[in-house]
Amino acid sequence: MAGFEEQYAKLAGTKRCVATSSGTSALYTALGALEIGPGDEVILPPYTFVATYNVIVLNYALPIFVDVDVATSQIDAGKIEAAITERTKAIMPVQLGGNVSDMDRIRAVADKHKIPVIEDACQAHLAEWKGKMVGNWGLCGCFSFQASKNLNSGEGGAILTNNEEFADLCAHFQDQGRERGKSAFAYSGNRGTNLRMTEFQGALLKTQMARLEAQARRRDENAQYLSQLLGQIPGIIPPGKYEGCTRNAYHLYMFRYNPEPFAGLPRDRFIDAMAKEGIPISGGYGQMNRDQYVQTLRTNKHFQRLYSKETLDRWEKQTHCPQNEKLCSEALWLGQTILLAERSDMEKIAEAARKVQAHAAEIAKA
Ligand SMILES: Cc1ncc(COP(=O)(O)O)c(C=O)c1O
Repeated sequence: MAGFEEQYAKLAGTKRCVATSSGTSALYTALGALEIGPGDEVILPPYTFVATYNVIVLNYALPIFVDVDVATSQIDAGKIEAAITERTKAIMPVQLGGNVSDMDRIRAVADKHKIPVIEDACQAHLAEWKGKMVGNWGLCGCFSFQASKNLNSGEGGAILTNNEEFADLCAHFQDQGRERGKSAFAYSGNRGTNLRMTEFQGALLKTQMARLEAQARRRDENAQYLSQLLGQIPGIIPPGKYEGCTRNAYHLYMFRYNPEPFAGLPRDRFIDAMAKEGIPISGGYGQMNRDQYVQTLRTNKHFQRLYSKETLDRWEKQTHCPQNEKLCSEALWLGQTILLAERSDMEKIAEAARKVQAHAAEIAKA
């Protein structure tokens, strides 16, 4: 880990970086440093990896879902204010797939209500809003270096922040409440646990970082070319972004499908047909907010003890996110490694989609 924190903070242009054992532990540390706990509410989008939800629930705080903007697959910033209560202690936009949420609108509402923003930037290394890397747009940004990520060390994570005091709290939290640079038994007075990054992970990341920029450029070039090609195919909707997103890190190429110009061929059958052409597309996340795993929070004995029936009824209502339902039924994802392929491979993807479209009626009948 020695040197990694300085190097990653320098890359991002933040004052501090605190390395952790994973992206989940980076998020958990950020919430821990803010002393978020029972009775508190944290806002998140439903279209995310389950870790964003888990870290809130592990603190026995209430996860409040705010619906998504289908065009960008990000939290709908215009719907955040209506979800804020006096118990809201953090807003956690997710820079999903390496795309960026509308940070201007999120900051405006967060600043108005004096609520800290924790960017879940686990998928967004090098993504930028108005020319500045994600991680700079709230109190902090949390990153994952798990094996699938654009920058990875198998497992690993980091918190970026421009707030020195908060960075110290995070450093204490992820190291058993101990003060950095002092004796092994010098306690800070803050809570903590062991969520440390190993020296081995840090060493791997320092070398991996050397190729991050070149790979990001390649993904971006290929993604833009692919969007140009796919945009010409009726029924295929290339990824959307906000004007302020000056760099999409393309951890995922998230596009959408409309079955009508494909003779009504359902999305899953389009995915199967593309797989037969050698193109591995995924349908992306399911509706996590409506999943049984999330819904059991309503009957969890600790949550029932901590929150009134009225609060849990309101919570259950807020798990209805119609735009997320739509997004989950239309989404198509290509993984970031595909975007590291040749430019001609992008043409093969578009060619396969055109072929499936030409034969869609036959495929639908089969
Ligand atoms: C959006 C998001 N949040 C959090 C995480 C958790 O990161 P990790 O797997 O490193 O714990 C991930 C990664 O998998 C993620 O994609």
